[in-house]
Amino acid sequence: MAESKEGAADKKKSKAVETLRGMRDILPDEQIYWEYFRRKAREIADTYSYGRIETPILEQEKLFSRTLGKQTDVVEKEMYVFDDKGGDKVALRPEATASVVRAYINHGMLNLPQPVKMWYMGPMFRYDRPQSGRYRQFYQYGLEVIGGGDAVVDAQLILIATKLFEDLGLKVKVEINSIGTMQTRQEYKIELVAYARKNKKDLCEDCMRRMAKNPLRLLDCKVEACHAIMKNAPQIVDWLDDPSRDHFMELIEYLDEVGVPYVLNPHLVRGLDYYNRTVFEIVPDRGDDAESGSQSALAAGGRYDELVEMMGGREQTPAVGFAVGIERAILEMKQQNVEPPAMPVPDVFFAQLGKEARRASLRLFEEVRKAGFNVVEAFGKASLKAQLESANKVGAHVAVILGQQEVQDGTIIVRDMDSGSQETIPIEKLIDNLKRILK
Ligand code: HAM
Repeated sequence: MAESKEGAADKKKSKAVETLRGMRDILPDEQIYWEYFRRKAREIADTYSYGRIETPILEQEKLFSRTLGKQTDVVEKEMYVFDDKGGDKVALRPEATASVVRAYINHGMLNLPQPVKMWYMGPMFRYDRPQSGRYRQFYQYGLEVIGGGDAVVDAQLILIATKLFEDLGLKVKVEINSIGTMQTRQEYKIELVAYARKNKKDLCEDCMRRMAKNPLRLLDCKVEACHAIMKNAPQIVDWLDDPSRDHFMELIEYLDEVGVPYVLNPHLVRGLDYYNRTVFEIVPDRGDDAESGSQSALAAGGRYDELVEMMGGREQTPAVGFAVGIERAILEMKQQNVEPPAMPVPDVFFAQLGKEARRASLRLFEEVRKAGFNVVEAFGKASLKAQLESANKVGAHVAVILGQQEVQDGTIIVRDMDSGSQETIPIEKLIDNLKRILK
């Protein structure tokens, strides 16, 4: 039996190669948001004198398993790990803090004036369960300050994060907490597990596992029943050592000083092991009192005072940083109806008619571009009507039209797209003419 046209088309479609699950194309139409984010992010980093760093996307697997924590979800379940052709165990970076610290040590940055302030922007990879705002390839913009231990550094970093969101036109809330030192956290974990054990008949299966493996995660379980139980759990701030408590108090004072609003969230613990003292998350502020889960965090960060030393760097090199999930920030811009400014409209549309004209146009196009004009064309289109429609669509102010006759006469038509008026001028006057019209 002959196959229907639709059937053949379906078959063809199913054979087309698609992106991997959790990975997506960012198409030209969406770039308006991305460009806006990138521009604001770069401006903020420049204003506060952060230097850009770019680290490889592929690193040795141990860089992450040793620093983020073997029992964390990111290392245990979500890393893209494989042996490369030389037999090295490598990983696609799930985050960039470990790489930035590696670079700080590798390049002897401890000899630079401290603290060293760096920023990055690029793709990260986590084999997580994809859903809105959670992807397997996603982009982060992050700031790290290495070699500064005072609470004022944490405060300024939180201030910078809030300024970025303010610049983007987003309403956000800052949630902060302190998780103390490794030692006090250990003591707290024992207490927390004892509390969870008392209530274990009402906890979900995941929490039963967390009790043994990663007790701090008990605190941010999303299951209603667990959440209710954990509301009354012992709070980590009550276990803080004196220096951590002082640090936290100072941070709060600094935030008050600069008027950054924050919410103390005793359940905020973060999913990576390298943190100590300050941890924070930035979540959308949609004006309701709904509690926000970590799934909605637009940005997150904290202190990691032990990491440099743990990775073989100099002792006592305190550090702090945060990273923004760019897709989440963009989704939130759409949610809060933030309209990024339109992309620049091209000055000149270059239209041509006939083979001779097309050849001449190719050269002339470069001249116009070199003269500093933003030029577009549709050389692939043969009809003048279709080309002028394109000119209208992109919003070009002026169209220049070169046909067979004009090539022979050494002239060109300049059309004002707003008024529709046009004139034929000698080709050598084109640039001067454009300068006059577009000044
Ligand atoms: P993180 O909390 O794992 O921290 O990620 C930071 C942000 O990246 C999250 O708040 C979220 O906006 C975004 N993000 C994380 N996973 C995904 C995903 N699967 N899809 C989309 N967005 C995601 C870190 O990565 C730390 N390195 C942050 C840091 C910097 N701490 C100190 N310095």
